[in-house]
Amino acid sequence: MAESMRGLHRSHRCTEVSSANIGETVTVMGWVQKRRNLGSLIFIDLRDRSGILQLVFNEETVGAEGYAKAESLRSEFVIAVTGKVEKRSAAVNENLKTGDIEIIATDIRILSESQTPPFAIEENSPTKEDIRLKYRYLDLRRPDIQNKLMLRSKVLRLMRDFMADEGFLEIETPILCKSTPEGARDYLVPSRVHQGNFYALPQSPQLFKQLLMASGYDRYFQIARCFRDEDLRADRQPEFTQADMELSFVDIEDVIDVNERLLKYIFKEAIGVDVPVPFPRMPYQEAMDRYGSDKPDTRFGMELVDVSEVVKDTEFVVFKGALEAGGTVRGINVEGQGAMPRKKIDKLVEFAKGYGAKGLAYVCINEDGTYKSSFAKFMSEEEMGALVAAMNGKPGDLLLFAADNKHLVWSVLGALRLEMGKELGLMDENQWNFLWVTEFPLFEWSDEEGRFMAMHHPFTMPMEEDLHLLDTDLGAVRSKAYDCVLNGTELGGGSVRIHQSDIQEKMFELLGFTEERAHEQFGFLLDAFSYGVPPHAGLAYGVDRIIMHMTHTDNIREVIAFPKVKDASCMMSKAPGTVDEKQLEELGIAIVAPVAEEE
Ligand code: AMO
Ligand code: AMP
Repeated sequence: MAESMRGLHRSHRCTEVSSANIGETVTVMGWVQKRRNLGSLIFIDLRDRSGILQLVFNEETVGAEGYAKAESLRSEFVIAVTGKVEKRSAAVNENLKTGDIEIIATDIRILSESQTPPFAIEENSPTKEDIRLKYRYLDLRRPDIQNKLMLRSKVLRLMRDFMADEGFLEIETPILCKSTPEGARDYLVPSRVHQGNFYALPQSPQLFKQLLMASGYDRYFQIARCFRDEDLRADRQPEFTQADMELSFVDIEDVIDVNERLLKYIFKEAIGVDVPVPFPRMPYQEAMDRYGSDKPDTRFGMELVDVSEVVKDTEFVVFKGALEAGGTVRGINVEGQGAMPRKKIDKLVEFAKGYGAKGLAYVCINEDGTYKSSFAKFMSEEEMGALVAAMNGKPGDLLLFAADNKHLVWSVLGALRLEMGKELGLMDENQWNFLWVTEFPLFEWSDEEGRFMAMHHPFTMPMEEDLHLLDTDLGAVRSKAYDCVLNGTELGGGSVRIHQSDIQEKMFELLGFTEERAHEQFGFLLDAFSYGVPPHAGLAYGVDRIIMHMTHTDNIREVIAFPKVKDASCMMSKAPGTVDEKQLEELGIAIVAPVAEEE
């Protein structure tokens, strides 16, 4: 039967007790991890969020009733135990922080009993993730998850401390917002009072933080929940957390400076890693050319090489055709992999096709300097020699080539590079390569929409030196946007904003907004800016992604207490769910599509 806390007070968490307390009486509380009976002694491993402590029960000390209670304990019972701290009688357990002591119990209360849990509460659980997520409240008891969430809490605190010290104000912005196009799909919330109208959950506090700058708050910061109805990946959730900031009277350098110091501070304080500042910077164009990615993992080489010039006169139709169509031929040198079996190369070809490539041309350079290649027969010996030399190919290397339009070649070789880097163990997880990627294109062409779209968002400032291109060559306009990249992940991104109404109007025009639509969507922002707005800039980090890196996990669900799965549902609460007819009626909503049966 469950007993109460009456008159009891927890004196320590499990691992707060140490050999310094030997001889003292302590009261600890937690969950039964394990019970062992050894003759007339019962040993209990007690667990709380701090770790594990060994309790010893013998009838002499704890009494007959207490001993009987100890005998009845099973996994996950919640108990309170008072006892004396002693040096461990058996050998010291080196694996435990409290491995040199034990508590000789004098009193025990069973605060709560437990059913047998569906899986063992232990580190690195082998249990399948869907079972763990269904019983997330049990999964969250596991020490590895607890450590991640405790680290997360620490990082949030460090961020708040740092930002407060730098003069940033933490200001909350609305969750019920107005839907705005551009960006990802919105989550909508129907209005009861204004039937037929909807709020949108914020994809980010972007507009509000810019308004706060117009209102004179000068340095804003928020740990902000953001919502995006987009396809989920390993590092994406439908709701996620940003560390969001905006600063007035600044340019790129000011934003980068405060952010380098912020990151240096939290990495040092949270996980003891020294991050050298300033971070290297790389323009977008260079990142794409060298790594085929706007978030390059610079922990290893295997850089892309443009061989278009070298192969432009060859007879190989794949290369020739791509070049004639205005495309490009580029390659990577996978050093030391020249003996890769054909089957494995075929797999790489399939991998490349998964990224839209029509094929993948390869050259294996044998140890004796001869070649095994999918296209050598179309090349003269000199042409092949020149190509291999351009790739810096040595005996034993594997050269992979893609020929197509530039964007496709970047994406195929960028992905192959990462795949080979992973497979060959070239990514040292204890290396922290921070990088600013800068000078992003202002616009990107959308085939789907048949027009140019803002690459970051419509409020991003063009680079001053490219302003004249707004009238002539949209694709070539670079922006004052920057991304913070760590080991191949985009940790955060931001930009200097447009604060001049003539440039903003021009942007809307170029993005295909009519004046009316621009005013309908963003009227309040444009109006606000007509009353005096300081130059401003900002940035937002994905907090979840920062914690993923710090804890070396590639699964975002491991760093979120109650995450959603791939189809954006919660396996524990079963959200989203149907609602009562009455609720729908109040909202003036009728469901047209048949509702899927709930499990
Ligand atoms: P952006 O859209 O680049 O910028 O988002 C900033 C950072 O948020 C993280 N992030 C995500 N994390 C988890 N799941 C998602 N679905 C997800 N989407 C984004 C990324 C990303 O770098 N308002 C601008 C910032 C600004 O201009 O100041 C913005 O939201 O780590
Ligand atoms: P094919 O003549 O189509 O058999 O192609 C000869 C070789 O070129 C094969 O190894 C193909 O995988 C490769 N290949 C085909 N298309 C491309 C391309 N767009 N880029 C690179 N290699 C290609």
